Amino acid sequence: MKGNDIFASLLPSSVHVVQSRTELEDTESYGEEERYIANAVPERQHEFRTVRVCARRALGQLGHAGIALVPDEKRAPVWPAGVVGSMTHCVGFRAAAVASTNDIRGLGIDAELHASLPAETLDIILLPEEQRMVGELNSRYPETAWDRLIFSAKESVFKAWFPLTRQWLDFLECRIILDAQAHSFDAEIQAKGSVAAEHDLTVMNGRWIAEGPSGRGLLGTCITVPLAAVC
Ligand SMILES: CC(C)(COP(=O)(O)OP(=O)(O)OC[C@H]1O[C@@H](n2cnc3c(N)ncnc32)[C@H](O)[C@@H]1OP(=O)(O)O)[C@@H](O)C(=O)NCCC(=O)NCCS
Repeated sequence: MKGNDIFASLLPSSVHVVQSRTELEDTESYGEEERYIANAVPERQHEFRTVRVCARRALGQLGHAGIALVPDEKRAPVWPAGVVGSMTHCVGFRAAAVASTNDIRGLGIDAELHASLPAETLDIILLPEEQRMVGELNSRYPETAWDRLIFSAKESVFKAWFPLTRQWLDFLECRIILDAQAHSFDAEIQAKGSVAAEHDLTVMNGRWIAEGPSGRGLLGTCITVPLAAVC
């Protein structure tokens, strides 16, 4: 896998993704964005600015130029009309993905450092059946941090879920079922019954990728929500 490519191979061609392992700068300044991070620590300012350079480059591929991207009151990104998108950043990596609402309904991407979760967080993030699945996968494929992968999958789920529903979703309200061979997963929403059904989001499908063995590189996950089927 090429060093810069964690999402390119995961997302359909209708999704435009720009990712970077170095900090990027815009040629022009976006005052609204700068005011949003004026009091943030430098690392937060760097990730916020660079991921927005990525997002504007991706939006450019959709024909949108010079858009300021200030989060809403729930921290969700605000995209131009007719666009869905998602952003992620972790140490040494930033990525943004966008698509036309003519092609897909929702999008979530997440990148994490490839390392196991702290043991004390497992019961907060993983359902008992997910912890059993992680145990089985660890014994067969110990090079992958399966618990962190489920965490990332749930973050991708939330980033796709929230803009469509405007509802909070807890880690234990979603069950991830990983396919280790196909590098895919299903996300079953196990709460928010009427909301999930109304938005046709009771099951979402995602894909994942892992660089290096656990302890090195990144994990990436993504969710694309297809257009509703026309009956
Ligand atoms: C929102 C959340 C998923 C972000 O994930 P993270 O690992 O902290 O950070 P990432 O760098 O991967 O992603 C940050 C980006 O997420 C996006 N984001 C933040 N809130 C969002 C929301 N409500 N809806 C959609 N996207 C959101 C933003 O683009 C943000 O970038 P920015 O801060 O530069 O604007 C996380 O902070 C969170 O609140 N998680 C709890 C909810 C959850 O994940 N539930 C699991 C359901 S199965």
